[in-house]
Amino acid sequence: HIDIKKLLTDAESYVDTSVTVCGWVRNARNSKSVSFIELNDGTCLNNIQLVIDKNEVEVNKNAFNVGAALKAVGSFVRSERNGYEIQIQTIEVLGNCPSDFPLQKKRHTIEFLRTIPHLRVRTRYFEALFAVRDQLSYAVHDYFHKNGYKYVHTPIITGSDCEGAGEMFRVTTQPWDAKAGNGSAYLDEESYFKDDFFGTKAGLTVSAQLEGEMAAMGLGRIYTFGPTFRAEHSNTTRHAAEFWQVEPEVCFADIDDIIEIGEDFIKSIIRDVMEHCPDEIQFFNQWVDKGLIEKLNLVLESDFGRMTYTEAVEILQKSGKEFQYPVEWGCDLQTEHEKYLTEEYLKKPVFVVDYPADIKAFYMKQNPDGKTVAATDLLVPGIGEIIGCSEREADMEKLVAAMEKRGMPLEEYQAYLDTRKYGSVPHSGFGLGFDRMLMYVTGVSNIRDTLLFPRTVGNLF
Ligand code: 4AD
Ligand code: MG
Repeated sequence: HIDIKKLLTDAESYVDTSVTVCGWVRNARNSKSVSFIELNDGTCLNNIQLVIDKNEVEVNKNAFNVGAALKAVGSFVRSERNGYEIQIQTIEVLGNCPSDFPLQKKRHTIEFLRTIPHLRVRTRYFEALFAVRDQLSYAVHDYFHKNGYKYVHTPIITGSDCEGAGEMFRVTTQPWDAKAGNGSAYLDEESYFKDDFFGTKAGLTVSAQLEGEMAAMGLGRIYTFGPTFRAEHSNTTRHAAEFWQVEPEVCFADIDDIIEIGEDFIKSIIRDVMEHCPDEIQFFNQWVDKGLIEKLNLVLESDFGRMTYTEAVEILQKSGKEFQYPVEWGCDLQTEHEKYLTEEYLKKPVFVVDYPADIKAFYMKQNPDGKTVAATDLLVPGIGEIIGCSEREADMEKLVAAMEKRGMPLEEYQAYLDTRKYGSVPHSGFGLGFDRMLMYVTGVSNIRDTLLFPRTVGNLF
């Protein structure tokens, strides 16, 4: 059989030949002497129309059920209304689909589709979404590969909480059934973990950065692209417990260098998707976010903004806005603040730099002012933070001091500290939330609609 995408792309070369297609029925119509079936095989957003001349061929009535899987053979012809269609010779029903199939013809709300993640991939919306997700992943690899970065695979099971936010999921061999377990055999946490699989505490990584830094300190420039996990209880439209992160790490680069790389990278992957998924982006522009294409073009043409955290605080204080969380120097920026800066004040992506050390992670380079670190978040309209970025503290003494201040157990970070002991170099990196990036390029407003099976608080479908 032939992909519908190929058939429609090279249509003229198939005209008047016999073709075989396979797919699922999206729609079926009957008239007196002819029937029509719209077939989709997931290769492109378009359906192919199957035309059945009732006087000529007999077709199993199940072939007209929305959702049924078919194999159809017929003559590929030009048609006046639809461009091309297939005049059917035979149809085989590969899998029937009963009438309780939830995706009947009518439009469904995105909230309803969220309750059937295993079936929603059969809608145009999610077909478009996952086509863009695929292309965006490819664009990420393409960008780094072309720029001399090595793609490294860092562990998913790890002992260190990179962000120090205490949001790590634990990995344990403790029995599923609590009653069958030996909970009472362990008097304290320490002996419990000593006896567990790894002989020490283990968890799912929140970020590949620490291992990424170690790899970069030998390979020069690396990136990771994999799932990361956070037991974050924030039930918002932009937080998932399992999300994908792209994390480049670059030696001999300072904060200005990495900001330049970040901007170039973001523009490059947007450009790539717009070039390779024109139908899908058009779909989102029409159905999800009316100004999407114009907005993306503007992002490509403009320079991203840049301001210090201190300036951002002043702007927010002078805005005259009544924020739910009032702003003062030293506080973390909330979504409402990020929205004001990017949607009302600048109306474009902005790098906010030099955050207070106290609200950021231990590994960031300390600025000479003694209060801030060389860290930046890239904020974008509609979403807020999509990148967390910093130059890393390369000085062993300062790094150790920052860790001690946070009460971190130094002995668990010996390998990381070795990078500062043996040939330490200035280096910088960032983490892009890939699912948020996908929201940005499609205009989709909930992270739950960017993942195949989203994992969020209370939801493990
Ligand atoms: O800002 P974060 O926490 O930074 C880090 O983890 C650094 N170690 C990255 C690095 O420098 N290598 O997370 C990075 C990005 C955020 O900007 C956000 O886009 C995304 O990851 N992110 C989430 N996306 C979805 N759901 C969540 N719960 C997320 N938490 C962070
Ligand atoms: Mg962050």
